[in-house]
Amino acid sequence: MARKDTRYVCQACGAVHPRWGGKCDACGEWNSIVEEVAESALPGAKGAARKRSAGGRALELVALDGKAQILPRRTTGIGEFDRVVGGGLVPGSAVLIGGDPGIGKSTLLLQAAAALAGGARTAYVSGEESIDQVRMRAQRLGVEAAPVGLAAATDLNEILATLNGPDGPDVVVIDSIQTIYADALDSAPGTVAQVRACAQELIRAAKRRGFTLLLVGHVTKEGTIAGPRVLEHMVDTVLYFEGERGHQFRILRAVKNRFGPTDEIGVFEMTGGGLAEVANPSQLFLSDREEPVSGAAVFAGIEGSRPMLVEIQALVAPSPLGTPRRAVVGWDSNRLSMVLAVLEARAGVHFSGNDVYLNVAGGLRIGEPAADLAVAAALVSSLTGQPVPAGSVVFGEIGLSGEVRPVAQAEARLKEAGKLGFRRALTPPLRKSAGDSRAASPEARGLQVRALADVGELAALFMDGGGAARTPRIKGVEG
Ligand code: TYD
Ligand code: MG
Repeated sequence: MARKDTRYVCQACGAVHPRWGGKCDACGEWNSIVEEVAESALPGAKGAARKRSAGGRALELVALDGKAQILPRRTTGIGEFDRVVGGGLVPGSAVLIGGDPGIGKSTLLLQAAAALAGGARTAYVSGEESIDQVRMRAQRLGVEAAPVGLAAATDLNEILATLNGPDGPDVVVIDSIQTIYADALDSAPGTVAQVRACAQELIRAAKRRGFTLLLVGHVTKEGTIAGPRVLEHMVDTVLYFEGERGHQFRILRAVKNRFGPTDEIGVFEMTGGGLAEVANPSQLFLSDREEPVSGAAVFAGIEGSRPMLVEIQALVAPSPLGTPRRAVVGWDSNRLSMVLAVLEARAGVHFSGNDVYLNVAGGLRIGEPAADLAVAAALVSSLTGQPVPAGSVVFGEIGLSGEVRPVAQAEARLKEAGKLGFRRALTPPLRKSAGDSRAASPEARGLQVRALADVGELAALFMDGGGAARTPRIKGVEG
């Protein structure tokens, strides 16, 4: 019965095949054929196919400046969460939350659902845990009194029937989309076809009924949300919940948002009683040691709209291996290779024969190119054994020719560093407006700014004060 409505579509070229195969005859792509259900077989589309074939009605085209009906956003009161979604959840929108297993997605969403339940009818559908397990978690979080409607279900039809019912909820959490299945499809839950079909139906229901849909998505080993890439295109907002398992800090990051800014982050701390907001995270990722050590540099970064100071640690040590190791936590390993190559080629700082380890403190993941200069400073510092000057922050992008390039929001970075008691800054050449002392804030003005034109100038800093005697591997650095 199901087979009749099933087709097999190549995800690379769109060719439709009568049966599954390992290779698409049309485009030659391997492993790209996926079972899809014809839309008319899914519960939400009854009669849709018939209507379509009867010929379309002409659309009424309207002016851009008509009155838009804007429904108020629903806020959870969890400030870090609300800010990341752009100031609250939009009715009728779909939000996908991805993250490693055990990072705290279910915890975050149960807390958010409980917070929303005061003002909106809220449902939490768990496909992974039993009712008892969710209840136990709610008790641990201290939210068991919140009027959240709870269900343990995985059948799409049942879920849709509940959502479309007379007193359907305003906010729905589905934990997780990989556990939900449509029985019109033969494939197992979690497969591309199931994830796609179920998400499509749920999103369609959300748009029609005006409820906010929060989908939990698992991530694959490669770090993307499992299931088709299209899942990210189908939803309005994609959030990633990240952090290192051993650390208590968690970052909620918006990577796509039709209703707000992206790159905004929310910082949480995992405690015995659930996730606690960290409202002022700018110095969370700094160590509190007093004495400067070699191989550590404080990066003055910007995460979303907020400045954040982060310690970057490097260890450069002679390698016993023919091919030395390059290991990175919290940063892009390709970017590390680039910084190493630029330091070698443009400043004559040689890392060959050494293992290089790079770590961003506290489990934060940095995506900004502005961290290049801080990484370079940590690397050269570790190699030479010379600490970065005490009380310094570092930021700047490094170009392939070795130049240090200006980055956005220099003033905000300096200001935050000044506020937290830093006294020096290694920066790119600052543009007139940013470097202008009249424009600079009092905090930033107290900072001794050292603008570096290229990586050679950076390396030279670590040659001063007897460092040269300990740095036989540095050649050709002027100064
Ligand atoms: P969970 O929300 O189940 O993660 P996910 O849904 O992303 O898989 O979080 C599980 C982890 O969080 C688990 O290792 C225990 C920890 N935890 C706390 O430390 N405190 C708490 O209050 C809760 C509920 C969980
Ligand atoms: Mg979970």
